[in-house]
Amino acid sequence: MADLLVLGIETTCDETAAAVVSRSPSGAGDILSNVVRSQIEDHSPYGGVVPEIAARAHVEVLDHVIAQAMADAGVAFSDLSGIAAAAGPGLIGGVIVGLTTAKSISLAARRPLVAVNHLEAHALTARLTDGVAFPYLLLLVSGGHTQLLAVEDVGKYRRIGTTLDDAIGEAFDKVAKMLSLPYPGGPEVERQAALGDPQRFAFPRPMAGRREPDFSLSGLKTAVRLEADRLAPLSDQDVADLCASFQAAVVDVIMDRVKAGARFFRERLGSGPTALVVAGGVAANGAIRNALNKTASDIGTRLAVPPPVLCTDNGAMIAWAGAERLSRGLTDPLDLSPRARWPLDPAPITPRA
Ligand code: KG4
Ligand code: ZN
Repeated sequence: MADLLVLGIETTCDETAAAVVSRSPSGAGDILSNVVRSQIEDHSPYGGVVPEIAARAHVEVLDHVIAQAMADAGVAFSDLSGIAAAAGPGLIGGVIVGLTTAKSISLAARRPLVAVNHLEAHALTARLTDGVAFPYLLLLVSGGHTQLLAVEDVGKYRRIGTTLDDAIGEAFDKVAKMLSLPYPGGPEVERQAALGDPQRFAFPRPMAGRREPDFSLSGLKTAVRLEADRLAPLSDQDVADLCASFQAAVVDVIMDRVKAGARFFRERLGSGPTALVVAGGVAANGAIRNALNKTASDIGTRLAVPPPVLCTDNGAMIAWAGAERLSRGLTDPLDLSPRARWPLDPAPITPRA
C-alpha cells in the first residue's frame, strides 16, 4: 500500500488553516505543509471571538490558505488520497465554510471526503508527532473543552471525566479579561505569571482529592475576581501575582485530576495507558507541560505533548486525523451535515449521578 496524502481544512473557531500531511502504511506521519491564518486581529477589539466575523473571515481567506498549503507541499489536488475537513464541533458558520469547500474539492478532484471531529484531531495529533500507540490517556484542554479520555483506537474514545462548568482555556481567557489583559488571554496570563508570586494568594483547588476525575473552574475564577476587586486599582505586580497564583491553582488541579483519571483508566481498561497525551490550546502552557511531566512519571507512564503550534488549532491535525480514518477505510458522503455540537463520546465511561 502506498502512502496516503491528505489535505486538511480547519475553520471551526478563529483560525483559518489548511495543511497537507502524508501517512505511511506503518503509521508514520509527515507534515508537508501547514498554513495557519489567525483571526486574532479581527476579534481583538471585541475581547473574544465574534461568530459572524469569524465565518466571513474564513470565506475571505480559505481559498488562499488552501492554495498556499498545496503550493508549499508541492502537490496537485489529483495527487491527494482524500480531503479532510473539521465538520464540527465549533462555530457553525465557520464549520459550514470549511466543510463546503472540502466537499467542492472532493467533487472536482474526485477524491473521497473525510469528515473529522475537531476534538478527534486534537486527540490523534500525538500519534503524528510522537508515534504514540493505543490505548492512551488523553487530557484535552482547549478554549471550549476540558476532558479526560481513554483513546482506544481511531474512532474509539471513552470519556473518563469532564468539566462541570468552564473549560480551562475559557478560565484563562476570563481571568485575562477581568485583569484587562489582551485577547487571547491564555498566553498573556502565562507571560504575566512568570513575573509574579504564585504563593501570594491561596486560591481554591476545586475538586482536588475527589475520586471522579472531573473538573470545575468557576469557583477558582470567582476567587480571582473577588481578590482583584478587593485590590483595585491593580498595580502591575498585583496583576502578575494574581496570574501566578491562578496558574499555580490550575496546575495543582490538573495534576490531581489526571491522577484520578489514570486510576479510572486502569480500573476500566485493566492496564495502564501507553502514554499521557495532552492536546488542545492550553497544552501550549509551559507550566502545565512541566507539571504534567512529573504527573506522567508518578502514574508510571510517559508524557507526549505535541509542539505548541500543533496544540493550538491547525490544519495538520485535521489532515492527520483524516489520514488515520482513511487508513481504516473510513470516508463520508457529500451530503454530510456540519455539526455545532459533536461529543467524541456521547456516553461517559460510567453513568454518573
Ligand atoms: O485548541 P484551541 O486553539 O482552540 C479551541 O479549540 O478552543 O485552544 C484555545 C485556548 C484558548 O482558551 C487559549 O487562551 C488557550 O487555549 N491557550 C492557553 C495558552 N495558549 C493558548 N492557555 C494557557 N496558556 C497558554 N500558553
Ligand atoms: Zn481546538
